[in-house]
Amino acid sequence: MDFTGRDVITIKELSKKDINSILTTAQKLVPYARGDKYTDLLKGKIMASLFFEPSTRTRLSFDSAMNRLSGRIIGFSDPGGTSLKKGETLADTIRMADAYSDIIVIRHPLEGSARLAAEFAESPIINAGDGAGQHPTQCLLDLFTIKTEKKKLEGNNVVLLGDLKYGRTVHSLAYALSLYGSQLTFVSPKELKMPKEVIEECKSFGIEPTSTTNLEKAIKEADVLYTTRIQKERFPDPEEYKKVVGSYTVDKTLLKHAPKDMIIMHPLPRVTEIHPEVDNTPQAIYFKQAFNGVPVRMALLSMALGGKL
Ligand code: NCD
Repeated sequence: MDFTGRDVITIKELSKKDINSILTTAQKLVPYARGDKYTDLLKGKIMASLFFEPSTRTRLSFDSAMNRLSGRIIGFSDPGGTSLKKGETLADTIRMADAYSDIIVIRHPLEGSARLAAEFAESPIINAGDGAGQHPTQCLLDLFTIKTEKKKLEGNNVVLLGDLKYGRTVHSLAYALSLYGSQLTFVSPKELKMPKEVIEECKSFGIEPTSTTNLEKAIKEADVLYTTRIQKERFPDPEEYKKVVGSYTVDKTLLKHAPKDMIIMHPLPRVTEIHPEVDNTPQAIYFKQAFNGVPVRMALLSMALGGKL
């Protein structure tokens, strides 16, 4: 399959074949991601990393991925130091990054920003999160993690917990898990329910997600519990945030209701949703999940830039 030059704006543009191929490539790249093997696959290539919003894992794992492939990186993590401060448009900023690099990774607070960027750039654009919209590369690493840990992607019983309204990771993941025929349960405070459009997308694959506020019951037969942070920064009214903050916590008491082999995932950062006492349980795989961002992003960068291992 030739992926050269492709943009990755939403997970919906990727077919099952595309996703399977990215995950297979990522699997091969694990020893390189760990630094146990060396490759100069992307030597001479430049990745522009444009982060208009805070990030730890996504930005650093993209940087690590490009470095592990022997490519180079330009960019910023604080748009305050760029000509945006002088009133430059996003379109012109993208045109410049396009002129100076071979591939552009962008994170921006506005939904639709990555799509806009793709209109102004010749180089491939990778969406590293656009507001409450989509987060396709997180979705790919989440799928990679489920596949690695549960030995299959098809037919898992997955509970998505937390801020399902503003959380972009769960918007992408609910779609992708439906594509792979998962059984989905959405658990959230009633103010933070999964948007109707996402539920409709799941249904288009013949999936009937269940929505509930009863977490204990939801995890009884779960293979995966995917926890998310309440997206404080996306609430138009701080009073609304105060109503829901702290409304759920995954702790050892809760885990008594879950199967022993249920895995606990989280895109991170976590605030209070997972008690630190859970970190040393075998079910907690969120730090492993964060590492998986490196081989998965290496796979995407190398495939979009036409590199072959
Ligand atoms: C997520 C994001 O930015 O959407 N983080 C990440 O990329 N790993 C989740 C979050 O911020 O809560």
